[in-house]
Amino acid sequence: MLTVLILFVIFLVLYLACRRPATLPPGVWGLPVVGKLPTTSVDLCTQVDQLRNKYGDIIMWRMGCQINVFLCDYNIIKKVFARPEFSYRPDYFTYSIWGEGQMLGIIFGNGEAWKNSRRFALRQLRDLGMGKTRLEEAIQYEATCLVHNFRQHTGKAQPLPMSVGVAVLNIIWKMVADTRYEMDDPKGHKFIRLVQDVCQSLQGPIFIFNLFPVLLHLAPPFIKKKLGYYTLKKITSEIIEFVSEFIEDHKATLNPSQPRDLIDHLLLEHNNNNTQHIPISYDEEMNMRVVVSDLFFAGAETTTAMVHWSLCYLIKYPIVQHNIQKEIDASFPKGTLPYYSERNKLPYLEATIHEIHRIVSLTPMSVAHSVTQDTQLEGYTLPKGTVVLAYTESCHRNPQLWERPHQFYPEHFLNTDGSFKSRTEGFMPFGTGRRSCAGESLAKVELFVLLVALLQNFTFTKPPGESITTEKDPNVIIINTAKPFNVIITERQ
Ligand code: HEM
Repeated sequence: MLTVLILFVIFLVLYLACRRPATLPPGVWGLPVVGKLPTTSVDLCTQVDQLRNKYGDIIMWRMGCQINVFLCDYNIIKKVFARPEFSYRPDYFTYSIWGEGQMLGIIFGNGEAWKNSRRFALRQLRDLGMGKTRLEEAIQYEATCLVHNFRQHTGKAQPLPMSVGVAVLNIIWKMVADTRYEMDDPKGHKFIRLVQDVCQSLQGPIFIFNLFPVLLHLAPPFIKKKLGYYTLKKITSEIIEFVSEFIEDHKATLNPSQPRDLIDHLLLEHNNNNTQHIPISYDEEMNMRVVVSDLFFAGAETTTAMVHWSLCYLIKYPIVQHNIQKEIDASFPKGTLPYYSERNKLPYLEATIHEIHRIVSLTPMSVAHSVTQDTQLEGYTLPKGTVVLAYTESCHRNPQLWERPHQFYPEHFLNTDGSFKSRTEGFMPFGTGRRSCAGESLAKVELFVLLVALLQNFTFTKPPGESITTEKDPNVIIINTAKPFNVIITERQ
């Protein structure tokens, strides 16, 4: 009798705790406690598309005890993400693991700490050259090194050389840590693998801990192992350790009158420009490590993934590759590289890069936002803790906005006279609003210069008898990377 009573009380408490509030957007509530988990047989975007057909552009979907709201309309996303109430990150395990349980840094930080870290890093990166000629010259230098490296990889079927990642890493790492790696340096390759591994690990079953944080305390070690908990811990601590070594090294060699890079500026900021000793509190030091890891992670993986996607599409659509090469040859013969301000001379390339951003939607659900108090949204009330996701891919494939939403069609971004057509409506590869990408201007220049350098010097084709796919990995929820492919690199005469 007592057992029945206890069970009844537990059930009642769970029922009351998991009751659907009346003011939520329409969508899926699911079962008490578990809500409705996404299936693994179909990708998340397709599942949200199905809900969108039924419920419209604002969809609620409870997974575990966590309420998610998916925004599928460009104007709604733009309006909502401009509001400060929506500029928080959810208290996910996979977000706080970087700060040993605290939400630190730029990507995953919250509140004043996030605002200050973002503002400070952006100001310093700008002073160190981001958006300026000095940085463009550094990018051109890396592009030239990349071309030299690709010459050693011509004529045979192989995956894209690791040097793509090294060039991209060098660009951000020069500003952040005043360091660069030779294209074949195994150390550089190791760091690139670390970033790839963390990205892969974050997209795996580890996500279940974000939906059921209680499992972090309840799950036995073998389940944690199966869900990738220990793997993620190991990789994040390797990255943090790697970053810490740089910070320690910078502390030992800091010259306050000549800060070399972002790490020096962070150290000076924490020490009021006094280097006699560095009384940085544990939390400040931790935040510094996370800020630097953020830039290492966000700066390397995203742009590298976009270079891979770009070459994948250009191999699949050789006519587009040929048109770009013709355009480059007319304005920038071998040995000359453009500045980003000269992109009006390469409208077809510019349109193609935009189209690749659109069709690929590198971060299809952007990065999760959340509200930290009950918040109004288009007539609904979202309870504190609701996770809000901008489903940017749905905007990128909206048939009302794009002539051929599911096809690769650079003409989406071209005027009839062949000039570049700038389009903002429905297009937001770098997110929008207060948490939009902090590296957008850097990424745009990188992608542009690296592609010009590669296409000016090489033609990329698929090996005979092999196929190349632009299909996405159905398990992607964060960064959508191209499936590995083989390529034949041929030097152009
Ligand atoms: C093609 C390359 C890139 C794409 C498509 C991209 C896309 C994005 C997106 C969609 C977000 C999330 C926006 C949101 O939460 O609403 C983001 C955030 C961020 N990105 Fe990028 N990104 C790229 C390259 C870079 C680079 C090169 C850097 C390095 C400086 C960078 C640094 C960041 C940072 C620090 C954030 C977090 C901003 C915040 O939470 O305040 N990104 N990026």
